Amino acid sequence: MSSKEAIGVFDSGLGGLSAVKEFLHVLPNEKIIYFGDTGRVPYGNRSNNTISKYAFQDTRFLLEHNVKLVVAACGTVSSVAGDALRSSLSVPYTGVVNPTAFAAAEKTKNNRIGVIGTAATIGSHSYKNRLQKLNPNFEVFELACPLFVPLVENGFISRDDQIAQLVVKRYLSELKEQDIDTLILGCTHYPLLSGAIQDFMGSDVTLVDSGYETALYSAKILKENNLLNDSSDTKNPEFFVSDTPDDFKKIAELFLGRNMEHTVTQIDIESY
Ligand code: DGL
Repeated sequence: MSSKEAIGVFDSGLGGLSAVKEFLHVLPNEKIIYFGDTGRVPYGNRSNNTISKYAFQDTRFLLEHNVKLVVAACGTVSSVAGDALRSSLSVPYTGVVNPTAFAAAEKTKNNRIGVIGTAATIGSHSYKNRLQKLNPNFEVFELACPLFVPLVENGFISRDDQIAQLVVKRYLSELKEQDIDTLILGCTHYPLLSGAIQDFMGSDVTLVDSGYETALYSAKILKENNLLNDSSDTKNPEFFVSDTPDDFKKIAELFLGRNMEHTVTQIDIESY
């Protein structure tokens, strides 16, 4: 495996861009191949069998590009199929649960941590189990917020968006009463709504961005495996989606602040 190869990142749709944003910042010499399964999003309310099937297809697509690291930038896949993926792969792998739980454990002062994610992630208790392994004294408050993903996929991501604010309030009101000081955005779509979430929870609550933490952790894995690309030319990322690229392109441009012209290609993921 050569350090010159790309990092493969996937998600059900736009969510993994919260990891890509940080990759572009901390590892500008690395080539990123991103797959967003926009034709089959959302994953988070599907059965574990379906989520695993999709996760393996997504991974096979990335492996075809000889990636040197596979990143499941998806809380749902990491929670439901992470162990199976890791043991099936001959290249390093990371999901989002471990790096995000570590970061939250370091940030909390009062040991009261909230976790929001998809129904599948919350049903798996992946973050809660991980956190309580790190410290049995943590009190963990879990909540599924299924409407956040369609909000993001449809571009309702501005902190001033009234629909986003209303949905955030509807879901998070009870959690706000729990005196948490740290809130894990356990689905990688949710950091795209972090403005509205932070405004509602208040500045005393630290948000932990699963995409961001996973990108930092990936840099560590590459370093430990001597897989960091030492050439200094900046590489343009390549994006692949399983449905029409137009909406993806528009929202990705908004979130990443870069021109996505000619960088998004549609593929047939069912053939993998
Ligand atoms: N972004 C994903 C996650 O982190 C998946 C959301 C979905 O497709 O439901 O869970």
